[in-house]
Order: sequence, then structure tokens, then C-alpha cells
Amino acid sequence: MRIVVLGANGGTGRRLVQQALDAGHEVRAVTRQPQSFPISGPGLEVVAADVTVDVPVSGAEVVLSTLGVPFTRQPVLLYSRSTATVLAAMRRQSVRRLVVVSSSATEPHHHAEGGFLLNRVIQPLVTATIGKTTYDDMRAMEAVVRDSNLDWTIVRPSGLFDSDNVTRYRLSENRSDGVFTSRADLAACLLAQATDRAWVERTVAVTTAEGAPTLWAMLRREAFGR
Ligand SMILES: NC(=O)c1ccc[n+]([C@@H]2O[C@H](COP(=O)([O-])OP(=O)(O)OC[C@H]3O[C@@H](n4cnc5c(N)ncnc54)[C@H](OP(=O)(O)O)[C@@H]3O)[C@@H](O)[C@H]2O)c1
Repeated sequence: MRIVVLGANGGTGRRLVQQALDAGHEVRAVTRQPQSFPISGPGLEVVAADVTVDVPVSGAEVVLSTLGVPFTRQPVLLYSRSTATVLAAMRRQSVRRLVVVSSSATEPHHHAEGGFLLNRVIQPLVTATIGKTTYDDMRAMEAVVRDSNLDWTIVRPSGLFDSDNVTRYRLSENRSDGVFTSRADLAACLLAQATDRAWVERTVAVTTAEGAPTLWAMLRREAFGR
């Protein structure tokens, strides 16, 4: 298939591009920084673009978006602005299949596996403070995508961690009980949507059980970078 990957130079995006090439797809990797993009080879086209301005989707059969920005207390507009640009470009080019990454935290709920620390401390704190503007804009993105009349899927991972191995990740409709998602599994889940229509016009949560860090390990890494 001819696949456009937005956010291709990010942690999930790079894995997604590699997995798609390995599976024999033609990939257009979109990044603002093509000079630092580490993947090359047959079947790959690297295109420089700021997706809030322009999205090169001509000839594509599916658009997979892993776009993201770090948490900030300032208003976040990337998700909603890029979605408006993506939808306009897809309509112009008659491309129908769109898969976007959001977050399970857009709909905070009790996580069976999360315990007191996640459910009563971390989740309420993050969604009310540093994550607030991100989740507000993700919810705006989700609303526009659901309203788009395209063949959309919204994929909601939980806390991301790095792993190169794809595992038997878990999918569930709307809400997730898992606390973590590996970037390799998120990429594999996104790629699966390119050829599988089971989740069209649905919101799916994806989580990883195998090899996931503990909450304490994740906190230590976020707080102290180790
Ligand atoms: N971190 C978590 O725990 C967590 C949890 C749930 C969901 N998520 C979501 O999961 C997704 C993937 O996360 P990640 O950490 O793998 O991603 P990431 O490394 O932050 O990569 C995001 C990419 O988006 C691209 N981007 C940002 N603004 C852009 C613009 N205006 N035009 C073009 N590209 C732009 C950047 O690429 P360039 O700089 O190359 O342009 C960047 O490489 C994100 O949507 C994130 O919000 C994260």
C-alpha cells in the first residue's frame, strides 16, 4: 500500500516507517527535519513539511498520524490544527483512510492495573496540570475526526515506553485498562489499520503487557532521566 506517515521522525513514527517498509509498503515519511531522519532505502520517500501548513498526501491510500508535542502549560494547537490541514488535503486528493494517535488520558477513568498511585495521584494531577492543554487539543482533534465522514480510526495508547519488539498488544474499544503501551506496539497497531477495516469509525485503546516498566521506573525516568 502507499502509506503517508505524519510525525515520521518521532519515537513511534520511526518505528512505524521501518515496520511499514519491512512489510513491503511504499512509505512517504513527513517530517520538518528530513536531514535528521535516520531511515533510507527502497520504497521510502522523505518529505519536508510542517503539517499545520501543508500535508503531502497525493497518491496515498492511507494516512497514519503519530504527530505530537511535549507537555506544556501553554495552549496546544498542533493536534487540532494539523487535523484541519490533513482533512482538507485528504478531501482534495480523494484519500479516505485516516488513522490518528490520541491518548487514553483524553477520557480519564479508573485503571484496574493502576493502583492508588496512578488512579488517585498521577492521573488526576497530570490531566489537571501539565497535560491539560494537550488533552484538551486531543479531544478537539478527536471530535473533528469523528465528524469527518472519512474512514477514520482513533488510536489511544497509554503511557509510552521504548521497545523494539512487537508483542501481543491488547485492543479494547474506547477505554483502556492497561497503563503502558510500547512504541513498537503502537506502531504495529497503526500499521495494522492500513489493511484492516475492523476499527473503521471506532476509537480503540492499545496497551502492552509484556515488558512494560513499573510505574515507579517510569516516574524515575520522567523525573530524573534514568
Ligand atoms: N508520551 C506518552 O506517554 C504518550 C501517551 C499517550 C499518547 N501519546 C501520543 O503518542 C504519539 C506519539 O508519541 P511519540 O512520543 O512517539 O512522538 P514524538 O517522539 O513526540 O514525535 C512526534 C513528532 O511529531 C512531529 N511534529 C510535531 N509538530 C509537527 C509539525 N507542525 N509538522 C510536522 N511534524 C510535526 C515531530 O517531528 P519533526 O520535529 O520531525 O517535524 C515529532 O517527531 C503523540 O501523539 C503523543 O502525543 C504519548
